[in-house]
Amino acid sequence: MIVVTGGAGFIGSNFILDWLAGSDEPVLNLDKLTYAGNAANLAALAGDARHVFVRGDIGDAPLLARLLAEYKPRAIINFAAESHVDRSIHGAEDFIATNIVGTFRLLEAARAYWMGLPEGEGARAAFRFLHVSTDEVYGSLAPVAPAFTERHPYEPNSPYSASKAASDHLVRAWHHTHGLPVLTTNCSNNYGPYQFPEKLIALMIVNALAGGPLPVYGDGQQVRDWLYVADHCSAIRRVLAAGRVGETYNIGGHNERANLDIVRVICDLLDECAPRADGGSYRAQITHVTDRPGHDRRYAIDARKIEHELGWRPAETFDTGIRKTVAWYLSHADWVRGVQSGAYRDWVATQYGA
Ligand code: NAD
Ligand code: TYD
Repeated sequence: MIVVTGGAGFIGSNFILDWLAGSDEPVLNLDKLTYAGNAANLAALAGDARHVFVRGDIGDAPLLARLLAEYKPRAIINFAAESHVDRSIHGAEDFIATNIVGTFRLLEAARAYWMGLPEGEGARAAFRFLHVSTDEVYGSLAPVAPAFTERHPYEPNSPYSASKAASDHLVRAWHHTHGLPVLTTNCSNNYGPYQFPEKLIALMIVNALAGGPLPVYGDGQQVRDWLYVADHCSAIRRVLAAGRVGETYNIGGHNERANLDIVRVICDLLDECAPRADGGSYRAQITHVTDRPGHDRRYAIDARKIEHELGWRPAETFDTGIRKTVAWYLSHADWVRGVQSGAYRDWVATQYGA
């Protein structure tokens, strides 16, 4: 059994679906079901005994203690977080509560549980706490600066990245001070199926199809290094299986692109796959809007460590990944409608008595 926190969110749900497609090892999914959590992402697992869903908060210490004692996992993978930079600018309280205090409570619960594991049977040595983090902790890169390595200084600029940086430091400290066998991954911007339409790529696809504006912040020349979500999931599985305890691993897709280029690619794919009724291009919907305060100019990942040490490389190029993503959103109009209407949360309430 493994514990996945935040498994009803974008990356967590992709991770659980991929995990159970390749393994019969059960997953306990602990998720608070915030606005970003959507148990319908896991509808394909309804009735599957390998997936145990618990609605709860990673900051709830008694709940954590009870779940760990009952399910006795060999690993915890912490995806749970408040994850959207724009929301952190408008209000950082939830980011501090979940990303910092929540991670602290989870570490404490993991430590107590790990210390109680029998040493003789190897369970204690085999236990892992894998913390999923972001490249945004490293701050912003100049246009020609080398990509982020694992040794880049932490220079977070947004309330979101500052809260993730704090959580990374806590994870590091629980290893160095208490010996907890931790692994940390720092990855670049993900895209793919089940992404809540508030992040760039999902938002642009959904807004374009709805005939709305495509809001590009500032000049649109900010650069992100895009990673297809299935590649992120395969990297996490690899780090969990073979990563060296106490190490951090950067995960990236080798796909640096400016935001405006991304939006244009999406428009062109939609022109091809779902042409507008009026025959015009979706590019006409692109609208430049006021820039985000403190907007990081460039992120880029140097992923050589995970490649050399663990033999991991992404399977998708940006061209193949974005085509799959657009196709997924086009064939999941009901999912999009549900996320936007909140109907999925009502469905969740009837499913889980929440
Ligand atoms: P998401 O916002 O889609 O999902 C977060 C999930 O965590 C939701 O299901 C939510 O209900 C749950 N959650 C929030 N607070 C919780 C709490 N207190 N207790 C339990 N569950 C809680 O996020 P995502 O995009 O899937 O990101 C997952 C992780 O990956 C996050 O830690 C994020 O920082 C990291 N990350 C994301 C990206 C990206 O591009 N999306 C890039 C790098 C790192
Ligand atoms: P986002 O998906 O919010 O991820 P992050 O801020 O964590 O990198 O944004 C990706 C980039 O796209 C970022 O430079 C901000 C920009 N952006 C827009 O230009 N318009 C939008 O509507 C959004 C959501 C983001």
